[in-house]
Amino acid sequence: MKESELSLGKIDGVEAGAEDRLVNSGICTVMELAAALPAEIVEVVGGDVEGAAALISNARSYLTKKGLMLGEFVTASEIARRKKDVSFCSTGSIALDRLLGGGLETKAVTEFFGMFGSGKSQICHTASVMCQLPQERGGLGGSAIYIDTEGTFRVNRLSEIATARGLDQAEVLNHVLYCRAYDVQHLTAVVKSLGLHIRENSARLIVVDSVISLFRSEFIGRETLAERQQKLNGLMHRLHNLAEVYNVAVVITNQVQATPNTFFGDPNRPTGGHVLGHSSTYRVYLKKSGEERLAAMVDSPYHPYSEARFMIASAGCSDPDSTR
Ligand code: GTP
Ligand code: MG
Repeated sequence: MKESELSLGKIDGVEAGAEDRLVNSGICTVMELAAALPAEIVEVVGGDVEGAAALISNARSYLTKKGLMLGEFVTASEIARRKKDVSFCSTGSIALDRLLGGGLETKAVTEFFGMFGSGKSQICHTASVMCQLPQERGGLGGSAIYIDTEGTFRVNRLSEIATARGLDQAEVLNHVLYCRAYDVQHLTAVVKSLGLHIRENSARLIVVDSVISLFRSEFIGRETLAERQQKLNGLMHRLHNLAEVYNVAVVITNQVQATPNTFFGDPNRPTGGHVLGHSSTYRVYLKKSGEERLAAMVDSPYHPYSEARFMIASAGCSDPDSTR
């Protein structure tokens, strides 16, 4: 679609003055308006939340008419047809892809949580390489945007994975856009500006490794919980919107905390409470099991409980020989 077709002036209710203010705040196109949150529109153009929500809704309706988004009420057959727009990015492991119903799904947020060393960052690195492959080879034919909050991104590891998979490492590195986010405010601002970077770099995968660590280190004590959850909710909401509006796959990682009052089973629970629990489309629990890694799909509305075994090798996330 042409850039002019996406200009904010196309949207009912966006007057010239408001358009300038939106553009200056980084909301440059209909896509970004459709992915915005009402509160930030109020901040930029004034007025009330209802008015802002109406603008966002108009932007979404416009994209629906252009065939880029689903409308508010649609027939089930339309949903089935649009489901065909969804693509899958391989994680590098056939077993893990199978667990995910085909791989990392576009228009969805996939969360990996587990203890340190369980393989979360390795999956992120591998997916950043895999997403560049054409669709017939398990990729999404686009770049990756890698947002790192923990400083664990490794360029050498990307090169190693690319080489082990027979890919040109220089080419692969050129298609991973990296950003180190230092605090919650910075992370929020970075995610807010993602639309532009997705379009400029033809990105099909967004990684946030990890989504929670900055929140945990900045919001300490029970009295800050409400504010923390509200900010986390806003961030997750936007990641969902971006996934949907731009048809990209979003991968987030999360830590675990042990719940002391568990008598049976595994005491580890994902952090982030209900906000994260309800905002990831798919949640996958990772566990180390000897040399292998165990992945379990939890809380999925679409998948029965299932498990997969994979391993971390020079090619990144991959399969043990026996399951290949
Ligand atoms: P935290 O971020 O600490 O919570 O852990 P994580 O879940 O992100 O762990 P990560 O993905 O970093 O996995 C670390 C594990 O991956 C290590 O214990 C190694 O087993 C494996 N690993 C890391 N780097 C390499 C590598 O270069 N080659 C191989 N073969 N394995 C690696
Ligand atoms: Mg990690």
